[in-house]
Amino acid sequence: MISFIDLKSQQALIRSNIDKRFAEIMDNTRFIMGQEVTELESQLSEFCGSKHTLTCSNGTDALVLALMLKGVGPGDAVIVPAFTFVATAEAVAVLGATPVFADVLPDTFTLDPESAQQAIAVARDEGLSPKGIIPVGLFGQPADMDMLKAVANAEDLWVLDDAAQSFGATYKGATAGNLADISTTSFFPAKPLGCYGDGGAVFTNSDEDFEILQSLRVHGQGKHKYENVCLGMTGRLDTLQAAVLLEKLKIFPDEIQARQRIAKRYKQGLQEACYTPVIMNNCQSTWAIYTVKVDPAVRFNLLEHLKAKGIPTGIYYPIPLHQQKAYKHYPCASEHLPVCEALSHEVLSLPMHAYLDEESQDQVIQAFCESVQQAKRSAA
Ligand SMILES: Cc1ncc(COP(=O)(O)O)c(C=O)c1O
Repeated sequence: MISFIDLKSQQALIRSNIDKRFAEIMDNTRFIMGQEVTELESQLSEFCGSKHTLTCSNGTDALVLALMLKGVGPGDAVIVPAFTFVATAEAVAVLGATPVFADVLPDTFTLDPESAQQAIAVARDEGLSPKGIIPVGLFGQPADMDMLKAVANAEDLWVLDDAAQSFGATYKGATAGNLADISTTSFFPAKPLGCYGDGGAVFTNSDEDFEILQSLRVHGQGKHKYENVCLGMTGRLDTLQAAVLLEKLKIFPDEIQARQRIAKRYKQGLQEACYTPVIMNNCQSTWAIYTVKVDPAVRFNLLEHLKAKGIPTGIYYPIPLHQQKAYKHYPCASEHLPVCEALSHEVLSLPMHAYLDEESQDQVIQAFCESVQQAKRSAA
């Protein structure tokens, strides 16, 4: 059976090492802030080139911690794409600030710099104070950071890269985690680098910011445990999760390469049948999710045919954030965000993980091409 994401094959490779690490932690009982946590933080910094890594409870808290560090609150606006997982906007909104939704580009599905610029103007018109932009490395590919940084710099805003899906990707020779003023990621199990529960991280090159983030992660702690210097949260990563990630990080570079090979074969096999993903020059995706665009008139039928052939699929995302009940009262760059709205009806994601063998890839490709033909015939 083909899995959408296969965590079992990967586990078989690293299980005995993880078991050993777990046994040690069970013996020493350092479940919170054990040495694995600091070891992981230094290895993650080395991996992505960021001076500091602060691991934390999940990718949403990572965003919240980064936004707390930036002092975001009521009256502030933060520009976010409307085509992303909800956490990107939620982290802004829970702090009382206003997410302002911008459109994405039709080829890469990442934040459109022009629309971001418009969103800044809209925020000002509404009497808000624009503070920053959060590009998202959607489906594994970083946004066009140079273009977005140019917009941000001209407006004196910061850039927070939400690399929950793109950690490990590269953009013009730099690695995601180190592409912006501050970056965050998620270690949710299905992510390219995932643990066995919830986890996340914040990345920064600033010593001062790292010190503040360390305090925010533990209730705004001061010099000692029972001194509180600011509002914070309980946001630590468990030692057991750090142990899992230390083992997974060892095989992560090879897994990223395996994903490149699979994406290449998928493109060759699928490009006649649908719009396959576009990756910018000088950029490498981590292929967190392999998402194609299809004719919305046949998408439902196509999904049914693929299901009947045993091919698991996903729709990321069926409703853009500016049309969600909880978010539709927030401002948008323009009355409509046409690309986000169109994509929600066009996208379809196929199985993608580093252990998808060639036989399974061919099965997916064949089933997809056949299903497109079947769906088109029934639509005609
Ligand atoms: C783009 C993006 N941002 C943030 C998050 C939040 O991460 P977590 O689920 O670890 O809180 C996710 C997770 O799916 C995500 O895809």
